[in-house]
Amino acid sequence: VDNGIDLAPQMGFNNWNSTHCGSQFNEAMVKGIADLFVSKGLKAAGYQYVNLDDCWALPNRDAAGNLVADPVRFPDGIKALADYVHAKGLKFGLYSSAGTHTCDVQGFPGGLGHEQQDADLWASWGVDYLKYDNCNNQGVDAQSRYKAMGDALKKTGRPILYSICEWGSTQPWSWAPSVGNSWRTTGDISDNWQSMIAIAHANQGLSTYAQPGAWNDPDMLEVGNGGMTGTEYQTHFSLWSEMAAPLMIGTDLRTAQQQTFDILTNTDVIAVDQDPLGKQGSVVSSANGLVVMSKPLADGSRAVTLTNEGSYDATVSTTVQTLGIGGASSYRVKDLWSKATSTTTGTLSATVPGHGTAMFKVTPSSPVPPPTGMNYVSDLPF
Ligand code: DGJ
Repeated sequence: VDNGIDLAPQMGFNNWNSTHCGSQFNEAMVKGIADLFVSKGLKAAGYQYVNLDDCWALPNRDAAGNLVADPVRFPDGIKALADYVHAKGLKFGLYSSAGTHTCDVQGFPGGLGHEQQDADLWASWGVDYLKYDNCNNQGVDAQSRYKAMGDALKKTGRPILYSICEWGSTQPWSWAPSVGNSWRTTGDISDNWQSMIAIAHANQGLSTYAQPGAWNDPDMLEVGNGGMTGTEYQTHFSLWSEMAAPLMIGTDLRTAQQQTFDILTNTDVIAVDQDPLGKQGSVVSSANGLVVMSKPLADGSRAVTLTNEGSYDATVSTTVQTLGIGGASSYRVKDLWSKATSTTTGTLSATVPGHGTAMFKVTPSSPVPPPTGMNYVSDLPF
């Protein structure tokens, strides 16, 4: 949506994938994550939003109809927590549902019919980001429910990133780009290879709908949660970046291993996600579980992923023509994981472990000439 924010996909943290509504989800966790964003270099790498998911509120509104934070999880209230996050130079996000209640069985209050009151409250607390879920929607049309909250957020006058979580509604990409900054393209991710790669497949064909300020959202990251191997998490992070997806960390960084930080702070891969051209990569070849994606970057190069979806080592190859940048005499190649550099005159190839992804930036060493066989003066379409 054209609200001047989210010109590159949002980057941050959300507690859901690691805690769901468990007791670990509390003020100490959120403050600890904000601290680590600074001390472990995540803020420097571009992560900005520290967000709460479902179960932050009490089951009932107060006498004035306002939402109330759960005093056990958040004894100092939401405003004080937002202030803490802001004092670190970070931004703060909250969650609600475009229905009468949120998704959790405890049934926390949702925003349907309370859009302006809730948006005004959040703005007064200093909220910078809203994730708006789809439970208990009473069968009211999704587009009107999500537009109502989008309008309410705009009316507050505070810039609030609007993350639409309308899973289950039909082809949200046909309307959501003009309503929200991102929209979910699939159901919920789980911390395993099958779930992650199925979501990647579903999101891979939607590149035409993504643009600065409006992104396909294949759900939050599972990197570090323990259900996938390091190789699989590298694929997860590579593909999400190649698809210009929001990069929302979903693991409790207070207990994360160094390997998790290494994946999440790979600035070469993050730069692909955040590239100012704002194009989502697309699949340029796929056969026998070997999948090649190409993402045009602002400097005329391409970010390339070579994914081996099979179980054993395989050689994955492509050419600069397939990537869409044929015609130059040579190309510089940087491996964005190993950092090795090389040159090629046309082929790109790597041995990739089962469930792994190699990722490269491929840059023409000279400008790519126009295709031959065309007269560029007389062929201009006057
Ligand atoms: C469904 C969403 O898709 C999840 O990301 C999470 O927000 C849960 N609801 C919370 O109940």
